Amino acid sequence: MESFAGTPDPRLRELLTSLVRHLHAFVRDTEPTIPEWQRAIEFLTATGHKSDDHRQEFILLSDVLGISMLVETINNRTTVPGRGGLGGSSPRASTATESTVLGPFHMVTSPRRKLGDTIDLVGTGPPCVVTGRVLSVGGTPLPGAEIDVWQADDHGFYDVQQPGIQPQANGRGLFTADADGAFWFRTVLPCHYPIPTDGPVGTLLLATNRHPYRPAHIHFIATAPGHRPVTTHIFVAGSPYIESDAVFAVKKSLITEFTPVDDPVQAARYGLDGPFHLANFDIVLQPGS
Ligand code: BEZ
Ligand code: FE
Repeated sequence: MESFAGTPDPRLRELLTSLVRHLHAFVRDTEPTIPEWQRAIEFLTATGHKSDDHRQEFILLSDVLGISMLVETINNRTTVPGRGGLGGSSPRASTATESTVLGPFHMVTSPRRKLGDTIDLVGTGPPCVVTGRVLSVGGTPLPGAEIDVWQADDHGFYDVQQPGIQPQANGRGLFTADADGAFWFRTVLPCHYPIPTDGPVGTLLLATNRHPYRPAHIHFIATAPGHRPVTTHIFVAGSPYIESDAVFAVKKSLITEFTPVDDPVQAARYGLDGPFHLANFDIVLQPGS
């Protein structure tokens, strides 16, 4: 630790000193053998070799160790954990929407779509409508807020995982909230899916009897001028793995009912002609930059 005492950057000094303190405590605690130490080096080397511009095995490792979620939560503390008016007609907008991990499947440019459009370009799965409003803490609507959404299809695959099978930009859309801060779009009911397991992280999960699944969810990034953006998901209530997400990203406040609706009048309102699932999710942003 003393070897870092002369580090000019105080934050770097703090990080490295603490890293050495915790790593040495880990080694004293577990007393690895030389072969175990070599295995650890091999594992980290393989993690690097598996990573490139399209695949980030180190982030996946951080995800399954719960580190990504911890960093995300530390950096996006809401005033009091809670849900900003989800699922009700009278939004409770006193607390900001909680964040969760970005994940590896976000694309920098989601296609811009009009309110009410579908992001499901295939149309063979169970239809679903998502509605909500973007509000400031306190309840003021945020007209013109942008909502970037992306999700896996009803078989649990993202478009980028199935080029040539799924249309490009399937399951993705960038929406602008209306004058009341409201948004709504059509999609397909998302499905739970496994994180990539063909690398060292998959080996780790296998060796530890852990499953690789994430519960069904839809990703959101919401932005509005004068407010802190939020990166979050809504999770389908009752989805398999909702209690055991492989990357620990579920927060209670983000679990949302996807209510079955069998009412031709409601269906027609959203341009549908049969039963569908309806989810409502208000997004509450904290003022700030
Ligand atoms: C995702 O939700 O897209 C995701 C998050 C973390 C690891 C793998 C996938
Ligand atoms: Fe995802």
